[in-house]
Amino acid sequence: MSLLEVSGVTKRFGGLIALNGVDLAVGRGELVGVIGPNGAGKTTLVNVVTGVYYPESGRIIFDGHDITKTPPHRRARLGISRTYQVPRPFNNLNVLDNVALAAMYGSRRISVRGARELAMDLLGRVRLAERAQDYPESLSVVELRKLELARALAQGSKLVFLDEVSAGLVGDDLREVLSVVKDIHEGGVTMVMIEHVMKVIFNLTERIIVMMNGQKLAEGKPSEVASDARVVESYLGRRWSEI
Ligand SMILES: Nc1ncnc2c1ncn2[C@@H]1O[C@H](COP(=O)(O)OP(=O)(O)OP(=O)(O)O)[C@@H](O)[C@H]1O
Ligand SMILES: [Mg+2]
Repeated sequence: MSLLEVSGVTKRFGGLIALNGVDLAVGRGELVGVIGPNGAGKTTLVNVVTGVYYPESGRIIFDGHDITKTPPHRRARLGISRTYQVPRPFNNLNVLDNVALAAMYGSRRISVRGARELAMDLLGRVRLAERAQDYPESLSVVELRKLELARALAQGSKLVFLDEVSAGLVGDDLREVLSVVKDIHEGGVTMVMIEHVMKVIFNLTERIIVMMNGQKLAEGKPSEVASDARVVESYLGRRWSEI
């Protein structure tokens, strides 16, 4: 059985249908990419699975539990976490305690000391250990993204959604974040990586879902999706290498 099964999920905002009958399954240990243009419904999908919004119809099953109407804090305890498209650290806490706090509010039962030890370990995994005592305002964009990742992992999650973790990054910074994501996935974390640009996830994921106007336009191996006529035509009308 899949770790996550989303079936027929619809979410409206007034007259706008942000998600229109979306089906999605994520297996344990997978790294799935979700791409689509602005307004496709990518972040809304994350919001509906994490419990920020409840869908008007459809079902969400996580790890054998029907969580369609479960409040967000209980979903976090069951093991779902996410990073935000715009990082949201606590600016009055240092980097270490930002991660330690997440550890204490997730699915783990842990002491303050245990949370700080775990936080240090996670900062090592995302290659941010040397910034542990610094405050978020002094971090660069790539360091803030790593902090978001460490905080999501600190919750002891079985499934992590990354909402455009690479946005605005180029060159070495982009490669660095993608390499950290790859390491974490290879360490056994199931992930759904939301991206705007296919190129970013093309070599990283085994399966890509293309969203458009609140619907799933295509799904398959990166090479299949890239040559899918509907994707090439609809998704900006360009070849994948350009988008
Ligand atoms: N809270 C909200 N209230 C009203 N409309 C919303 C809300 N959240 C999202 N929408 C609308 O739903 C649609 C899908 O938005 P969503 O943020 O999911 O897109 P996205 O694929 O994440 O886009 P982007 O690539 O820009 O992040 C958009 O038309 C957006 O304006
Ligand atoms: Mg978004």
